[in-house]
Amino acid sequence: MELLQNAAPNTCFILGLQNFPERVELQDMKTVVIINSKGGSGKSTLAANLAANYALKGRNPAILDLDPQGSSMRWLQNRPDDLPVIHGIAGYEKKSTVTRSWQLQPPEGTDPLIVDTPAGLERTGLAATSRGADAILIPVMPSDIDIHAAVNCISELLLTTKSDMTQKRIGIIANRVRANTRVYGRLERFLRSLDIPLVATFRDSQNYTRSAELGIGISEMPLWQVRKDMGAWKELLSWLDSTLYDSRNVRPLPSRLGVRAVPQMVAPTAS
Ligand SMILES: Nc1ncnc2c1ncn2[C@@H]1O[C@H](COP(=O)(O)OP(=O)(O)O)[C@@H](O)[C@H]1O
Ligand SMILES: [Mg+2]
Repeated sequence: MELLQNAAPNTCFILGLQNFPERVELQDMKTVVIINSKGGSGKSTLAANLAANYALKGRNPAILDLDPQGSSMRWLQNRPDDLPVIHGIAGYEKKSTVTRSWQLQPPEGTDPLIVDTPAGLERTGLAATSRGADAILIPVMPSDIDIHAAVNCISELLLTTKSDMTQKRIGIIANRVRANTRVYGRLERFLRSLDIPLVATFRDSQNYTRSAELGIGISEMPLWQVRKDMGAWKELLSWLDSTLYDSRNVRPLPSRLGVRAVPQMVAPTAS
């Protein structure tokens, strides 16, 4: 395992399983990881809109895009200059001119870091990308195939940690839901049995397509246009804020290296 020492004093990344960067938290930056092994479930849409919401609230969010498709980076490129700045890190790029640690380094003061992940992750990839996350969001579309894939994805994720604390940090988002969709029954029963919340339901809306094209978040659009979408965002942000920023809530699992609270990074032995 390669250690990626950062320039900033309090964070560092290590290159973990399947070469995904794993964050070792040494500063007070929260990390939200968005996963679903199924492509097209809304991961990048969620990453972009979350970042826009936190930017609007005056935080300093950054997006770490691990998907070679680069949808989050494209959204950032489309973003108008007069909107709050969101830093983007193209984690999928392998640059030879800078060290990997420098490339993955969020700017000092970043909070939260939002990690957009690629489709097709299996157990080791899920473990690597979600390790050390303060919250994990899984957007799921309402088709049988998508729900089946999500159930598998959640099961794999839980198998990698087997911890009750992990469950408390996972939130499911029903995405692209049309009125009267009933196919979520099976997913809801499954989630209930695991004590994992369905934290928000996003409707199927052209607003999200527009958001992607324009580089703006739903919450940055005129209220008359997005009024029907805002309730779901309020629910998601309320769950996320209490998961990330309420100190009474469970703390995330310590990283495998066990250096979470240690101010100086000690290089791990190569594995
Ligand atoms: N709630 C929604 N309503 C309408 N379109 C959506 C919604 N969520 C996502 N989309 C669209 O679905 C497509 C796939 O979403 P994307 O976020 O790229 O998925 P992923 O990153 O999981 O592959 C994109 O074209 C996006 O604009
Ligand atoms: Mg994507």
